[in-house]
Amino acid sequence: MSPIRRNVREMSAYIPGEQIHEPGWIKLNTNENPYGPSPAVAEFLRTFDPQTLRRYPDPDCSTLRRSISERHNCRPNQVFVGNGSDEILALCTRAFVEDNRTIAFFEPSYSLYAVLAAIRAVAIRPVSLGPDFSWRDPVVDDADLFFLTSPNAPTGMAYPRDRIEVFCRNFPGVVVVDEAYADFADTNCMDLALQLPNVLVLRTFSKAYALAAIRCGYVIGAPELIAALFSIKDSYNVNALTQGVALAAFEDRDHTRRATERIRHDRERLAEFLRGKGWTVYPSQTNFLWIKPCQLTAKQLFTALREKRILTRWFAGPATGDYLRITIGTETEINRLIEILSVMPH
Ligand SMILES: Cc1ncc(COP(=O)(O)O)c(C=O)c1O
Repeated sequence: MSPIRRNVREMSAYIPGEQIHEPGWIKLNTNENPYGPSPAVAEFLRTFDPQTLRRYPDPDCSTLRRSISERHNCRPNQVFVGNGSDEILALCTRAFVEDNRTIAFFEPSYSLYAVLAAIRAVAIRPVSLGPDFSWRDPVVDDADLFFLTSPNAPTGMAYPRDRIEVFCRNFPGVVVVDEAYADFADTNCMDLALQLPNVLVLRTFSKAYALAAIRCGYVIGAPELIAALFSIKDSYNVNALTQGVALAAFEDRDHTRRATERIRHDRERLAEFLRGKGWTVYPSQTNFLWIKPCQLTAKQLFTALREKRILTRWFAGPATGDYLRITIGTETEINRLIEILSVMPH
C-alpha cells in the first residue's frame, strides 16, 4: 500500500518555465517584466530593519489591502492577498468546490488549473474556445468553479467584457476572472467583481510590477467570498518582506505605467514585424505574443532561437503545439530578436 494518496500518485505536476542562470541569454519564456520593479522597492529594502524579522507578519496584510481597496474603489473586506496569485487559485479550489463537482476552464488556458483540480481530487471540464481561440459562450452545468482567464494565456487574447458579464450572471457557481495580464490590456472586468456576488477578479504583482520573485497576488470580490478565503488560508500566508515590497511597488503608479507602455509599444512593433513575414500573430492584450510561423514549425523555431540563446516557450500538445509564445523583453532584446528573425526563412 502506497502512503501517497491515489490522486497525488496519478497526477502530473505543474511544469514551471525554464529559469536560466547563465549570462548571455535573452529570456522571453516566462512572461516576466524585463524592466524591473519600482525604485521604491530598493528604497524599502535599504531601510528595512532586519530586527523586525523576528516578529510574525501582519496576518491580514492590512496596509496593503487598504491601499489596494482604495485603488479599486472598494472596501478592504473585499480584498484578499495571497502568496502569489497561484496560492489564491489553490484556495479557491478548496473554498468553492464540493468533492463530487468539477472545475471548468477554457482549453487552452493556464495549465495550473488542471493540476489544482488533481490535487483537490475533483474532475475538470475543459471548455473549447471558438475559432482562432476566440470567445465561445461556455455551456457548463456541473461546475462549481470557472477559471476564466482574460486576457488568456498562452494566447494573449482578451474576451469581450459584455459576454463575460452575461456568462457570470448565468453561471451558478463562482467565476474567478484571472486577470494576471490585465495591466497590459485596454479593458478589464474589475467592475464585475464589485457588482456580482459570484465573481472574483484576480491580479498579480509578478507581471506589471516586475515582482515575480516575491510571490504576491490579490483578489477582489464580494465580502462573503473573501471571508471564505480568509477562513482557510495559512495564518501568515504573506511574509513581511513581500507585504512591504508589494506596497512600495503598488504605490509607484508612474513606474508601472511607464514599463507597461514600453512593453505594449514593443509588443505591437514585434507583432507588425512578424505579420510582415506572413506569420500569424494573435491580437495580444498581454506582455507576450502567441504566434504561428510558416515555412518552419513552432518547435523548429523554438529550437532555432534557442541555438541563438533566445529562450521562448513552446507547449507540446494538439491545441498548442503549432504555436510559440514570446514574452516581450526590453527594446534592445526585441531588436535582437527581430534581427535574428529577419534572416530566417519566411
Ligand atoms: C494566467 C495566469 N494566472 C496566474 C499566474 C500566476 O501568477 P503568480 O506569479 O502571481 O502566482 C500566471 C503566471 O504566469 C498566469 O499566467
